Amino acid sequence: MHALVIAMRVLFATSEIAPLIKTGGLADVSAALPAALRGMGVEVRVLLPGYPQVLKALPQLQTVAELRVLPGFPVTRLLEGRLPDGVPLWVVDCPELYLRGGGPYQDEHGMNWIDNSLRFGLLSRITAVLGSAESPLSWKPDVVHCNDWQTALAPAYLHFAGGAAPSVMAVHNLAFQGIFPPQTILELGLPPESFQLEGVEFYGNLSFLKAGLHYAGHITTVSPSYAEEIQTEEMGFGLQGLLASRRAALTGILNGIDTGEWNPAADPNLVQPYDAGDLHGKTANKLELQKRMGLRPEAGVPLFGLVSRFTHQKGLDVVLEIAPQLVALPAQLVLLGTGDAGMQQAALELSHRHSGQVGTYVGFDEGLSHLIEAGADIFLMPSRFEPCGLNQMFSQRYGTPPVVHATGGLIDTVVDCNEASLARGEASGFAFHGVNAASLWAAVQRAVTAYHDKKSWRALQLNGMARDFSWGKSAAAYCDIYARLMRQ
Ligand code: ADP
Ligand code: GLC
Repeated sequence: MHALVIAMRVLFATSEIAPLIKTGGLADVSAALPAALRGMGVEVRVLLPGYPQVLKALPQLQTVAELRVLPGFPVTRLLEGRLPDGVPLWVVDCPELYLRGGGPYQDEHGMNWIDNSLRFGLLSRITAVLGSAESPLSWKPDVVHCNDWQTALAPAYLHFAGGAAPSVMAVHNLAFQGIFPPQTILELGLPPESFQLEGVEFYGNLSFLKAGLHYAGHITTVSPSYAEEIQTEEMGFGLQGLLASRRAALTGILNGIDTGEWNPAADPNLVQPYDAGDLHGKTANKLELQKRMGLRPEAGVPLFGLVSRFTHQKGLDVVLEIAPQLVALPAQLVLLGTGDAGMQQAALELSHRHSGQVGTYVGFDEGLSHLIEAGADIFLMPSRFEPCGLNQMFSQRYGTPPVVHATGGLIDTVVDCNEASLARGEASGFAFHGVNAASLWAAVQRAVTAYHDKKSWRALQLNGMARDFSWGKSAAAYCDIYARLMRQ
């Protein structure tokens, strides 16, 4: 751990933050990383849109400024307060854009909000205002840290602003880019000269993410393997050329997890706590999970768990494909997630067909996700690509070895089980190559064989539980990048 961090001020702009508003891992990272940075002495402030969930959870917010950032934009109030963990927070209060039902990016029916360019254009614009000489506030950041496409126009605005702080563009998922028609740049007040190959233009449209990748002082992504993968045609979503050309300014930093929130020894969502010294509590959680999900209460049958957004990325379709073979082993399966309507339907149908052996809950349920990490024996994560992934880290910490596709952050966080890695005391899960039913099935069989060998199974569980997934090292790596940008 770095003992001494030079005084630095960081503005951390994000579109979601746990526990206030969460659709995925970005929310976890946006909560945990600023807290870890603060713990290291960095003066960090988080900037977030004023969604109803945020305003409701934090009634003490105070107005500190009224901003008129562009003629077309509604007047925006900037509110100030603190997150539940004490990290200072600014909220962009613009009811016309943020105060509505549904989710942060989509309405109740899963359709993207039609004004997302304005909603996140405004968030980006305010980020840049606060990071430049235009800011009405006395607190000025040394570095602006942007996350994903929703804040990715900020580096472009900063580039064209006076007295601007350098920026970091953190990529959590290259698949989401924020692409809008070309005229959007005028609505958002970007200079016309930015609309070019060496700028925000992407195949004739405006790409928020490309703007960030082009104009930011440094690019980070959430695992070293993903940093390499996104420079290739297969995984670069059209941005591989730009990313490769900027590779000297591109760093993969593995996410950590919040080891306070995710601690089987003190997790209020479990019916019995446990730790590496005594894993007996896991069985009580398994029985509780089986009860909650309508499964037969069988302690000796391996129980597979999956918690995920139901999208093509996460490979649920392949799990559904092998499910009939899996239940015939016998084994049980628990699925928790939301997303694609067809996948939700297919998962529900599967649990009807195999009632007592497969349980599906369609919805977002934080408590249940913890119980699955604890109560399942084996965790499934066959993602087609995975920038980092958090669930495989949670599951190792909960003594639930994961079966993962060897991609991105899954490569960097799971040690495949074989004789050699077991002997070294490092094996912590099962990795397979190629997302298809045959390779997943082979890995599942390897896991079930190991599960029935009590001694190696215990070793596998303990190896995973002993791993350090805390934020310390990664937060220090971000500090190094901030310091480098400040020196430039
Ligand atoms: P991604 O961000 O791509 O969705 P991650 O693995 O990084 O993937 O993070 C997903 C986060 O969202 C984890 O904290 C996971 O537990 C949580 N999560 C996903 N779906 C659900 C759900 N249906 N209910 C509860 N938590 C969920
Ligand atoms: C994204 C990625 C996921 C990553 C998360 C947090 O949603 O899909 O792999 O863990 O962001 O960085």
